[in-house]
Amino acid sequence: MEEVIKIEGGHRLHGTVRISGSKNSTVALIPACVLGNAPVTIYGVPNISDVKSLTVLLRELNVEVKQLDEETLYIDPTHMENTPMVSNAVSKLRASYYFMGALLGKYGHAQIKMPGGCYLGPRPIDLHLKGFEALGATVKYEHGCYILHADELVGNRIFLDIPSVGATINIMMAAVYAKGRTVIENAAREPEIIDIATLLNKMGARITGMGTSTLTIDGSVQPLKGCFHEIIPDRIEAATYIIMAAAMADDMVIENIIPQHIEAILMKLEEIGIKMKVGTDFVQIYGREGELRPTEILTKPYPGFATDVQQPFTALLTQAKGQSIVTETIYTERFKHCYELNKMGADIDVRIPSGFINGSTPLSGTSVVATDLRCGAALVVAGLMADGITEIHDVYHIDRGYDHLDEKLRSLGAVFWRETVE
Ligand code: EPU
Repeated sequence: MEEVIKIEGGHRLHGTVRISGSKNSTVALIPACVLGNAPVTIYGVPNISDVKSLTVLLRELNVEVKQLDEETLYIDPTHMENTPMVSNAVSKLRASYYFMGALLGKYGHAQIKMPGGCYLGPRPIDLHLKGFEALGATVKYEHGCYILHADELVGNRIFLDIPSVGATINIMMAAVYAKGRTVIENAAREPEIIDIATLLNKMGARITGMGTSTLTIDGSVQPLKGCFHEIIPDRIEAATYIIMAAAMADDMVIENIIPQHIEAILMKLEEIGIKMKVGTDFVQIYGREGELRPTEILTKPYPGFATDVQQPFTALLTQAKGQSIVTETIYTERFKHCYELNKMGADIDVRIPSGFINGSTPLSGTSVVATDLRCGAALVVAGLMADGITEIHDVYHIDRGYDHLDEKLRSLGAVFWRETVE
């Protein structure tokens, strides 16, 4: 038995949708909270299965976790124990690797299973490990577990070959108590990095340069303390709803967003012919002027076009007249959604690292598989546009990252439900 999502396509969307707190911030903020010795309260926590998996992991470390209300999590590491992290919950998501940096930083020791997460082609963590080593840690891999150890962590100058989001955050967490100054060059500049550094600074860390490619961490002598933190809005969820609106709405508002975070995506939407108004914390989509125009997209680290938005955007581009080309520079194999979209009638020729989308093609509902989280988002966009009913399998991928998807879509007028099937 399996739960599937069903969407009856062709219904116009309208109204307002409120964007939740950022998934990719939350999954790093939660491990960051254990760096101190006092309670941290975080607000804007999305109701997604990744947060549930992290809550399980916190409890296994004897960290007290309380859900104060739907969006507020209270995390108290006062009685925390640094036990090996070997349970199944570690493998449910990629972000469990943030406990490497947090535990190494706090205790000088971490033992953790290989993390899981979406398969987007190879996703090595060599840059994280090199960063830990540069701070003085030893790294061993035994029986499927990473064992990190340092008698003392000492600040260092670290150059990242690639501006990796995960490596930047992990090294930043490990360096919070390291002796002296750590400088990360070619650091990632994603808004989520700023969010994590802001939380750590509220807790007493001394981090500067976040949002630039040079991040400086001056090691703290005092234990970090508790604080209150509000998570930034989810720019990928925002972009996903904006794409749905571009596909199926004549007037729809996407609110509680930071439009600067999605500038590259908004520019592309305007380029293909979507009419919009950009406010301070909302975007209003007015539909399209005539036929959609094709475009070329190159995914890039922030502030470039986000790889996480590439997949749902591709679904929209099936409706542009002419050939669009999407090229991945972050995850060159992130094209599984194209094969699923082709089952629905799209004409996408995948020649890694690019997808050539020949449009426009009518889409028709059929049975498809969410091979990863944003592939799932692409299939939801396609399902909303398609003729008839789309049945999406492996929905657990989607539930890892989209807060209250069913309620939000139904309130916008989508015909969207779940069924249990054989
Ligand atoms: N990379 C290495 N070595 C490393 C680390 C990364 O070669 O040690 C490579 C990766 O293989 C990739 C590139 O560097 O080609 C960038 O990877 P990055 O480390 O920045 O990605 P990540 O931290 O693993 C986060 C998001 C992803 C998002 C990427 C890129 C989280 C939990 N995940 O992953 O989000 O695609 O940054 O922006 O923050 C998603 O939300 O669907 C998702 C997959």
